[in-house]
Amino acid sequence: MESVSLNTEIAEKFLKENSLIGRDFLSMSDLSASELRGVLAVAAAFKAYRREGRAFAQLPPFSAMAMIFEKPSLRTRVTFELAMDELGGSAVMLSGSEIGLGTREPIRDIGANLSRWVSAITARVTRHQTLVDMAEAASAPVINALSDREHPCQATADLLTILEKAPQCDKLLHSTRNDTIKVAFIGDGNNVAQSLMLGCVLLGIHIVLACPPGYEPGPDLLQKAKLRSVETGGSVEVTHNPAEAIIGSAAVVTDVWTSMGQEAEREKRLRSFADYQLNAQLLAKALPEAIVLHCLPAHRGEEITADVLEGPQSAVLDEAENRLHAQKSVIALLLGASPVN
Ligand code: CP
Ligand code: NVA
Repeated sequence: MESVSLNTEIAEKFLKENSLIGRDFLSMSDLSASELRGVLAVAAAFKAYRREGRAFAQLPPFSAMAMIFEKPSLRTRVTFELAMDELGGSAVMLSGSEIGLGTREPIRDIGANLSRWVSAITARVTRHQTLVDMAEAASAPVINALSDREHPCQATADLLTILEKAPQCDKLLHSTRNDTIKVAFIGDGNNVAQSLMLGCVLLGIHIVLACPPGYEPGPDLLQKAKLRSVETGGSVEVTHNPAEAIIGSAAVVTDVWTSMGQEAEREKRLRSFADYQLNAQLLAKALPEAIVLHCLPAHRGEEITADVLEGPQSAVLDEAENRLHAQKSVIALLLGASPVN
């Protein structure tokens, strides 16, 4: 499969170690560097097996997931639900408004009740604190399906795609040596960028984020990423210069300028981000075979032009597909799936 050297033995060994069982996944920083490599190896195994029509691992009997969404979703909802189904479990979809998250009932009561029925709670929330409160009350693992702070499942899929398809990165999955690449993020230093930044440094990647003034990643997460990069050999840099950020990059990532819930700021954001569009002229400064990633949905003509989004360097559909494999891995590891022989 492309450039990831798939080693099913490593994936099986990591799955059998059960080192993530029962844990929450609220932030990319919840994982160590070796745990992230394990998650990616298991994701790659799920992908390869699925392509052969086989199951790599199965959940214990009666595994179920509650999925709480306070915001719209296509990719996250479909891939979580399919992942549970393919792993032999079931999923129950709940909108934030139907359960009155924090209004009809306190978040902690919802987390405690759900834990009596289901083996995991996945939530897409307006405020990251909702996830933290839920995780405190829930005995079941809580998974972040997007908050205002992070989108760690997206970053896991992005890193899987980078390992598979970006040039010069074939040694990143198993090596701790400094055979690294540069990744550029152009745009809003928001949830998607923050999780990607943390994930890149864990893998020893050099990530440069070009964000307009006032839209840089939060100082606490930036500090966290810098601290982690000391152990891993990666690095993180923030600039206001997209052209400088993109030079020599093996992967170029962007995200919408106006995230869900920020619609009232759209006009102001269009002005602030005007020089941060990922277009053919900017992309030409990356490595010639650099891949383009976007979590989707995309706004053509804003953060990315249609020719780049749909062009030969775009890997956005592989990235979207990888949401399924990455989340299957996260679920399998948190819920204690066993390899299928
Ligand atoms: N990328 C992503 O999270 O897509 P959805 O909002 O459609 O789930
Ligand atoms: N930053 C975007 C990501 C959507 C998947 C948002 O929060 O709306």
